[in-house]
Amino acid sequence: MSTVHPRAHLRQAIGASDLVPEGGRFVVDIGETTVGVFRFKGTLYAYENVCAHSGGPVCQGRLVPRVRELLDDVQRTVGAAFDEDDLHIVCPWHGAEYSVTTGAHPGQPLFTLRGFPVDEEGGTVYVTL
Ligand code: FES
Repeated sequence: MSTVHPRAHLRQAIGASDLVPEGGRFVVDIGETTVGVFRFKGTLYAYENVCAHSGGPVCQGRLVPRVRELLDDVQRTVGAAFDEDDLHIVCPWHGAEYSVTTGAHPGQPLFTLRGFPVDEEGGTVYVTL
């Protein structure tokens, strides 16, 4: 007879790979935890669907490229541009943004989402809680 510790990490299949399109996300309940799985530039990322601000359903927010301020030679603002190499999730409740690749808020790196290991094998995506 074996005993599984209640906090043991379990790798669980969440569905077919095509449920997570490039530049998109798939939100799924795994037991009592809701997880958002994202694919960006071919890599998968998974976060708990709980915003670090006030617990909103962050993984269901809009996905937009980061906006970077453009500066001239003397550091004056001359405009803004999308950074297509940094995709952000925008929380639908109050607009907090997080990088999909790090789970961190761009201005407050200690303000982060709870991430989970995620991988893909044989056309199936797995999340380890
Ligand atoms: S709960 Fe997400 S921004 Fe407030």
